[in-house]
Amino acid sequence: MTKQFPIRYSDGELTVDGVSVRSLAEKVDTPFFLYSQAAILGQIRRWKMALGGLPARVFYAVKANDNLHLLRLFAASGFGADIVSGGELFLARKAGIPGKDILFAGVGKKEVEMEMALREQILAFNVESPAEFYRLNQLGKRLGVKVPVHFRVNPDIDPKSHPYISTGLKKNKFGMDPGTVLNLYRQSRGMSFVEAHGVHVHIGSQITSLEPFRLCGQWVRQFVQEIRRQGGIVQSVDVGGGLGVDYHGVLPWPPPEREMENVVTPEDYIEEIVSHLRDLNVQLFFEPGRALIANSGILVTRVEYVKRTGSRTFLIVDAGMNDLIRPCLYQAYHRILPVVDPERSEREIVDIVGPVCESSDFLALERPFPVVQEGEILAVFSAGAYASVLGSNYNGRLRPAEYLISDGQVRLIRRAETHEDLLRRYEGIKF
Ligand SMILES: Cc1ncc(COP(=O)(O)O)c(C=O)c1O
Repeated sequence: MTKQFPIRYSDGELTVDGVSVRSLAEKVDTPFFLYSQAAILGQIRRWKMALGGLPARVFYAVKANDNLHLLRLFAASGFGADIVSGGELFLARKAGIPGKDILFAGVGKKEVEMEMALREQILAFNVESPAEFYRLNQLGKRLGVKVPVHFRVNPDIDPKSHPYISTGLKKNKFGMDPGTVLNLYRQSRGMSFVEAHGVHVHIGSQITSLEPFRLCGQWVRQFVQEIRRQGGIVQSVDVGGGLGVDYHGVLPWPPPEREMENVVTPEDYIEEIVSHLRDLNVQLFFEPGRALIANSGILVTRVEYVKRTGSRTFLIVDAGMNDLIRPCLYQAYHRILPVVDPERSEREIVDIVGPVCESSDFLALERPFPVVQEGEILAVFSAGAYASVLGSNYNGRLRPAEYLISDGQVRLIRRAETHEDLLRRYEGIKF
């Protein structure tokens, strides 16, 4: 990242687009998520530049962060949406993304969700099983429409990422083996209510080297050639998402406590993919999520208690696993620093934990950390993707507010939940 990255320390204080995080935390309740519009737009620009002039389109993976106002930024930039449920379809449409710019993936699409998507005239269904394909054909027949599909193929390529976010291995539930896809392609020619437009592949998330993408690009190229050899028509190839981000070195200062991850830039990633698929004469669809937004957001939390037990020091903060589950779920690393004076001479080893009644409720374990006092504000970095969207009400906890800094102004883009929200789901039920 360059010095100009909008989330940075300035005179020892964390600022987002010039706004002091400390001063914001004095005015509003913690915890909260805070995003930089400039950072998000910077990523969007980068992808657009890298794809400029190519027959390629970007479909933002809504699962990474489905905040309506952030979706609007992607919509305004002309990005489409990659969705996996009726709920995501609903949000994408509310954000102004037209059906023709929406792709629908996921192994368990329900009929009611399919109908909803057909009403919205989405661009295509990324089909994950023969049963889903037949169901779509039936549905097309019942509704009198031709359903556009891509077949999601499982290339059995190891993305060398966390097992929970590897999706393109034979043992994973996603996609279909190549033989099955070829078979469905053949069948589709005799079917009146489905139309095969191309193939889809997505091998995993947080991929930090080019190798898996290279293997995937080569593999897909050969596969498309085989489909064509057998008479199938391939107009588009959806290469999915998966590009990883650097969770260690997003800030130019202070220096990261761990080695920066050797991540791949969007430019190199796109160049690699395009080098294998360009002369196939297809439209390329990209579905990035994390790479577009992870480093554009932080989670701001307050130290409620410092608990020293003799053998350990716990910083008990007011954000828990219900707000950010990545450390618990994937043993994921997030950089965490006090928002003021992050480089202190006094340091200690701490566990940064939340208030939830689970021992897995931690944000960091055995982390060398500046000595902090109760009441201090900490920032958890790289919390823009797969963070607030995975939040829950576990332990009766309320999902926190989300703010966006745009042009130096703080805008509330999702209010914090209230206790009344916890009652809302019982409305209309008589005991
Ligand atoms: C089909 C599909 N496309 C795109 C994505 C986005 O992945 P990432 O956020 O790693 O770019 C995912 C994430 O799992 C996915 O399943």
